[in-house]
Amino acid sequence: MLLNGSGGMVNLEPIGFVCGTKGDSVSFLVNKNVNLAFGQIVRIDSNDRCFYARVVNSESSSTLETIEQLREAEGKEAFGPYSAYRCVDAILFLEKRDGRIRSPTFNPNYRDKVYSTNEEDCSILKLSGDLEIGHLRSADQLLGSVGINISAIPRMMGMFGMTGSGKTNTELILNAQIIDNSPRTVALIYDFAGQLLEGKEIEPKRGLKDHPLFHSKVQYYSARDGKMVVGLRTITPARLDALFPDIQPPQRRLAWALYKHFGSAWIEISRETYAKGDKLSVHANKVVIEALMQKLSSLSNELFPATNTSFVDSVLQNVCKGITCLIDISGLRSEDQKRIVCLSASVVAEHYKHMWEENYDAWQKLPTLLITLEEAHEFLDPNNSRTIFSDIALTYRKYRVGLNAVTPRPSRITFDVFAELWTKIIMKTELKKDRQYLTENTPYMEYSETEIKMLDVGEALLISEPKIKFAVPIKVTHYPDYLEKRGNADYVLPDSSTLSKMSTQLKKLNDQETPSLI
Ligand SMILES: Nc1ncnc2c1ncn2[C@@H]1O[C@H](COP(=O)(O)OP(=O)(O)O)[C@@H](O)[C@H]1O
Ligand SMILES: [Mg+2]
Repeated sequence: MLLNGSGGMVNLEPIGFVCGTKGDSVSFLVNKNVNLAFGQIVRIDSNDRCFYARVVNSESSSTLETIEQLREAEGKEAFGPYSAYRCVDAILFLEKRDGRIRSPTFNPNYRDKVYSTNEEDCSILKLSGDLEIGHLRSADQLLGSVGINISAIPRMMGMFGMTGSGKTNTELILNAQIIDNSPRTVALIYDFAGQLLEGKEIEPKRGLKDHPLFHSKVQYYSARDGKMVVGLRTITPARLDALFPDIQPPQRRLAWALYKHFGSAWIEISRETYAKGDKLSVHANKVVIEALMQKLSSLSNELFPATNTSFVDSVLQNVCKGITCLIDISGLRSEDQKRIVCLSASVVAEHYKHMWEENYDAWQKLPTLLITLEEAHEFLDPNNSRTIFSDIALTYRKYRVGLNAVTPRPSRITFDVFAELWTKIIMKTELKKDRQYLTENTPYMEYSETEIKMLDVGEALLISEPKIKFAVPIKVTHYPDYLEKRGNADYVLPDSSTLSKMSTQLKKLNDQETPSLI
C-alpha cells in the first residue's frame, strides 16, 4: 500500500509511530519485522513538515506480568501480537517545511508516522558531492551517493578509526577523485606505512599506481631509492622551525647571523668549523652555539647532503601544475619522517600563502590543495611542539590549502585544531577516550558513542559542514570497486609534440631501407 505523506511525497509503509517526544528527542514504537540499526536516519511526517532523526537507542520489552511472560515462554498460553513491543529513541537533526531544510524548530506529534529513508530523502538531504565517498546506509540497504564538495577541502578534514577500520581505503577513494579533478584539485599525500602506492593491505591489492591517471597526474617520491634528498644549501634559517620544532629564538638569531656571514653554504661551513674546534666568526653565547650546532649536526648525510638540490622543489612545481605528490616516508627514522613532512608541507603551504599575498591572479589558477597526513596525532598533540600543521588547520583556509588529519587517536589532536575540521569521517573506534572525544566535540554526535564502537569495516559517519551538518551513516566505497566502475576511459593520449616526434621517427624508419623478409 502506498501512503501519501504530508511532506507531499509518496512513501512506502511506515515502520512505526511516535509514542512520545521531549525536546529534540523522539520515541517511537516499531512495527513487527522492521529492520532498524543504530545510527540509521528515519523520517517522521508531521502535518505540514517532516523531520529527520537518527536512531540512538532501542529497547524491547513485554507488556505482560512476569507470571504471564513465564507461561508464554513455556508455550502454555499465547497472549497475541500485543504482548511484546520495541521502542526506539531518535534525535531530531533536521526539519523540512515548505521545501526548506533547516535545524528543527519544533518536534513531531504523538502518533505521527515514522518511515525509513528512501532515495528521495537522500536527495532532500543533499548528500551527494563532487567527491563521492560512499553511499547512505539505511538498515541493511545502501541508498544514494554521499560525498563532499571541492569547497570542503580548505575547510579541513579528519579521518578517524582504529587499525583495520578502513582509513587507508577512504584515503585512496578521496585522493583518487582529487586526481580525477586535476588541475582543479591536487593532493599532497604523506604515506608513513608505504601502503598507498600499491594498496598493500587492501584486498584485492589496489593502490594509486592502479589509477588510470597515475602516469600523467601522480608523482611518487620514496625515501627508499635515495632520491628523496634535501640539499643543505637549500635550507635557509627560515626553514629551521620545520626541521627543529623546539628551536629557541636565540638559536634562530644565531642561524641568521651565520647565514648572512657564510651565505647558502652556512650549515656546512659552520659545521666544519665547529667540528675542528675553531671559533665561528659570529659572536654568540656558547650555550646557544652548542644547542644550534647539535641540531645542525643531527641532519643525516644521506637525507641532507651538502648540495643545492632538493626534492621539495620538484614537489612544489608538481603541486602547482595539479600533479599529485605521493611521498612515501616509510623506512625513515621517525625523527627524519617528521622533518621531511614538516619541511615539504611548509614550503608548499607557504607558497600558496605567498602567491595569495603577492600575485592573486596566479594564486587563483593554483589547484585547491589537500594535504593528507597520516599519524596526525604526532603533529597536532598539544603536548608536543607546534608544527606547521596547526597553522595550516587554523589559518590556511583562505589560501585554499586543506589538511586531512588521519589518525586512530583523535583524542590526541589539540582541541583548537579538532574544532576546525569541518569534514569528519568517523570509522570504528573502540578506545573509550577517543569515542568520547569524538562525540563530545562533534555536533549531533553526543548520543553516538555506542554506534562508533559497533561500526563494521568500511562503515563510517560523515559530517561535512556547512553542507552536511549531521552525522550521516555511510558505507565507504571499496577502492578496488571504484577502480572497476571508473574504468580506463580517460587514459590520456600522448600530447601532440610526442605524437609528431613519433611520426618523424616513423618516417625515419620508413626512409631506412627495410630488409626484405623473403
Ligand atoms: N569500504 C570497504 N569495503 C570493503 N572492504 C573494505 C572497505 N574499507 C576497507 N576494507 C578492507 O578492510 C581492510 C582494512 O582496511 P584499511 O583501509 O587498510 O584499514 P586501516 O587503514 O584503517 O587500517 C582491507 O583489507 C580493506 O580491503
Ligand atoms: Mg591504514
